[in-house]
Amino acid sequence: MRYLEIAGRRPLCGELTIQGSKNAALPVLTACLLGDGPCIIDNCPQIQDVEDTLAILRMLGCKTERTGHTVSVDPSGMEKTAIFGPQAERIRSSVLFLGALLGRMGEAALPYPGGCAIGSRPIDYHLRALEKLGVRFSKSSPSGASGGASFRQTEGSDGEDGSGLGSDGIYASATRLRGAGIRLPQPSVGATENTILAAVLADGETVIENAALEPEIDELCRFLNLRGAKIRRERGRRIRIFGKQTLGPVRYRLDADRIVAGSYLLAGAACGGSIHFRNLPAEQLSALLAVLSRMGVQVAEDGRMCAGERPLAVENIATAPYPGFPTDLQSPLMAALGLARGESRIWERMFENRFRTAACLRKMGADITIEGSCARIKGTATLRGGAEVRAPDLRGGAALVTAALAASGRSRIEGYEYIARGYEDICRDFQSLGAEIRLTEDRDEKVW
Ligand code: EPZ
Repeated sequence: MRYLEIAGRRPLCGELTIQGSKNAALPVLTACLLGDGPCIIDNCPQIQDVEDTLAILRMLGCKTERTGHTVSVDPSGMEKTAIFGPQAERIRSSVLFLGALLGRMGEAALPYPGGCAIGSRPIDYHLRALEKLGVRFSKSSPSGASGGASFRQTEGSDGEDGSGLGSDGIYASATRLRGAGIRLPQPSVGATENTILAAVLADGETVIENAALEPEIDELCRFLNLRGAKIRRERGRRIRIFGKQTLGPVRYRLDADRIVAGSYLLAGAACGGSIHFRNLPAEQLSALLAVLSRMGVQVAEDGRMCAGERPLAVENIATAPYPGFPTDLQSPLMAALGLARGESRIWERMFENRFRTAACLRKMGADITIEGSCARIKGTATLRGGAEVRAPDLRGGAALVTAALAASGRSRIEGYEYIARGYEDICRDFQSLGAEIRLTEDRDEKVW
């Protein structure tokens, strides 16, 4: 078991280059299934969720290669349509293989997706949208006799119906995908991406109303348009997709990860110091920069930030769909406000179970009260190290690192496997800013 050891209470000073975007890499890699020819993706972060996605692509018969931060995916050899196993069950974005497999093969079988336990995270918006495009779902692998798809499973499938999935899998098929008008009940990132993946090769035009506006979706559309797709964002939250016959190969470079950048900006606000971000995606972080300004932290156009010893409290801040304050930065913000002068309130409007980090922060001396969807935080001058805490999820892990870096004394943070899902090398990044942080292996851990 790997854990982090941190000696806190030092300002963060130095330069940093932000890794490529996890939440853009995952849909873009999945979209490599569509069309012909190998695609090459540059600035692809070396993180567990990307490795899991590449493993799923190989499971389907694609060829993948990685050289440093450049990944290539060649789908020409793929013929499978069922994915199973720990990778697909571990990550939320495995659900995007629904749209991509239906778009390329007309059928798909996969487990319900995983991802951080931050709420119930249903996929009803995905399924309803795909049904509008002509997709049929069944609770188990339809047998050939029933006219359903006989799913072309991958080797080693172990499900009772041979597809490697139990009855809790998703079985989908479509004779032909046809364009449709779709209105999403909420601007869901994943449902928007899944609909785009299924519609881009459908017959005719698809219009998505109340679509998500996250930059990751713009990256997916840019990637597909460079391959010959025709996808347009229109006024408000509307996306129009003109179905195409096929897509060509392309080489594409991912933007910097706005959530990793935001996590590190908030760590700087908590610890004080001065950081120069060489590639800060500032235009994607306007809601956070406005909050940092209210906390007394200035971030210049050229990516330089300066923070005093203690940030100011922020009276009220609510998470919201982009371009509102990102829910993924709610836990790191909570950690930073734990050290602020005054009382702050954070309202979590996106997920119903995303305050689990508060309990760990309280063990470090933070004064946090959860009242329904509101976290009330009374800032304290210092947090105390010495607590052994475990990351409850990916962004909660980043928040605990922030708190430990600002706390007095030494801290141990377990659950590094969560952090590694989205942060390429959090030790390397903070060491470059002068932090005393290291990754340690528990060798004598009994594995039963
Ligand atoms: C994406 O998750 C991100 N994950 C999440 O980041 C991020 O927190 C989230 O968008 C919101 O910005 C990836 O991109 C891989 P949603 P996603 O569909 O697509 C409800 C991280 O830390 N909903 O926009 O799963 C849902 O329960 C991760 O990098 C339905 O009810 O989020 C939530 O309340 C964590 N039915 C709201 O919509 C559905 O079918 C927004 O979820 C789909 C969603």
